[in-house]
Amino acid sequence: MRHTKVKDLLNSTTTLQEVNAKGWVRTFRNNQFIALNDGSTINNIQCVVDFENTPDETLKRITTGAAISVTGNLIESKGAGQSVEIQVTKLEILGDSDAEKFPIQPKNKPSLDFLRENAHLRVRTNMFGAIMRVRSVLSFAVHNYFQQKGFVYVNTPIITGSDAEGAGEMFKVTALPFDNTPRTEDGKVNYKEDFFEKETNLTVSGQLEGETYAMALGQIYTFGPTFRAENSNTSRHLAEFWMIEPEVAFNNLDDNMDLAEDFIQYVIKYALDNCKDDLKFLEARLLDEEKSKPQADRSEMALLEKLNFVLENNFKRVSYTEAIDILRDSTPNKKKKFNYIINEWGADLQSEHERYLVEKHFKCPVILFDYPANIKAFYMRLNDNTEPGKETVRAMDILFPGIGEIVGGSEREERYDVLIEKMKALEIDEEELSWYLDTRRFGSATHAGFGLGFERLVLFVTGMTNIRDVIPFPRTPGNAEF
Ligand code: 4AD
Ligand code: MG
Repeated sequence: MRHTKVKDLLNSTTTLQEVNAKGWVRTFRNNQFIALNDGSTINNIQCVVDFENTPDETLKRITTGAAISVTGNLIESKGAGQSVEIQVTKLEILGDSDAEKFPIQPKNKPSLDFLRENAHLRVRTNMFGAIMRVRSVLSFAVHNYFQQKGFVYVNTPIITGSDAEGAGEMFKVTALPFDNTPRTEDGKVNYKEDFFEKETNLTVSGQLEGETYAMALGQIYTFGPTFRAENSNTSRHLAEFWMIEPEVAFNNLDDNMDLAEDFIQYVIKYALDNCKDDLKFLEARLLDEEKSKPQADRSEMALLEKLNFVLENNFKRVSYTEAIDILRDSTPNKKKKFNYIINEWGADLQSEHERYLVEKHFKCPVILFDYPANIKAFYMRLNDNTEPGKETVRAMDILFPGIGEIVGGSEREERYDVLIEKMKALEIDEEELSWYLDTRRFGSATHAGFGLGFERLVLFVTGMTNIRDVIPFPRTPGNAEF
């Protein structure tokens, strides 16, 4: 007999005769009631055991975490809390779980830290089951959105010979030995003898390769893993994270902002429509977590309200220059409450400033645009008519409450001469990026794109507070278990 998913059993309107369910025991109480979960839904199915006719030996083996198969009639439940239950006629223990040793005991309310150390088992909890289902639905929504709009999904390389962001924060990829490393005459590592015969890294972004495809296919998106060796031990940074990078020919910065806003609203709506039970559970979890916090640190809105708020309100579009004025005049700046005091135009914004703008000042998602050229990447389009010494580029960052930066993007510098001049000033190797420059040499055109950090989106939608809890096996400084 083929087993039926718990989700389908719980949804069945008519009671079925004999059914079979397989899953893992969440709890077993009164020697009679098993709460069984198979991962198909946050909800457990209650399985009622006829304990008088079940050997003690078997009853003892119905422990939290054990895999079991139950067969019986699906009947209307007499108890509160569920509409149907299985009246067990046959119970089989598929895999025992020693109650003394299984680390995930619901009674102990394991801490998030403890669960992180047991990332291979934490998914057996309601919380992580819900998070990972929401993550899966969100990634489907990403594809849905772009596919419906006719974007082409492009797989950019994971091993690359270029550094898109121009920052020295990459993981090297090499097949060279560490002892006896081949050296050139001047003592440097001789990458000519390496696997690719050149220096290679794990990609920090697929953008540059993506741009070349956008300049042929019109609208493309990537969705893949990216890697950053920055030593940021924060609740917002991972060394390995997933990024979505659309790139669109003929789009300018305004089009880019429209696309990003529409895209984010679509995926959030999709999760609201398709993850109701999981989000309701996560909303309750967040409320519970925040009970232990001082009133001032609690969220103003419950999770679902917050998600709906993002759908119903336009993101506030503010230039960097306006933002600096707001920050300079803000109370925390005057009272020197910020760690980095904003004195003048040109300062890079820290997450404390971004969060002040979003959470205290505007109280909605914010798109900051037209940043100073010298704090942004080389490929961003220089604004026309900017003051010398105060040049700005057509960059945009989207800032979200509780998250900070969720999107970074720009209109790209499509003018060959301007781009070359910028690369020279930053000492970026033109030879290395000759293939990229070809997009500007042959049929160049206005184009724009952005990158959305997928885990930051999952953080926002699930109401979790640490990015390590929204990716199955997080990689952070000092952590690469599993
Ligand atoms: O702002 P970033 O660095 O932009 C780029 O990589 C561009 N090439 C994107 C583009 O225009 N195509 O990164 C984009 C987003 C950030 O806004 C953030 O959401 C996320 O990626 N991100 C990280 N997420 C988790 N851990 C990290 N270490 C992250 N670094 C960036
Ligand atoms: Mg950025």
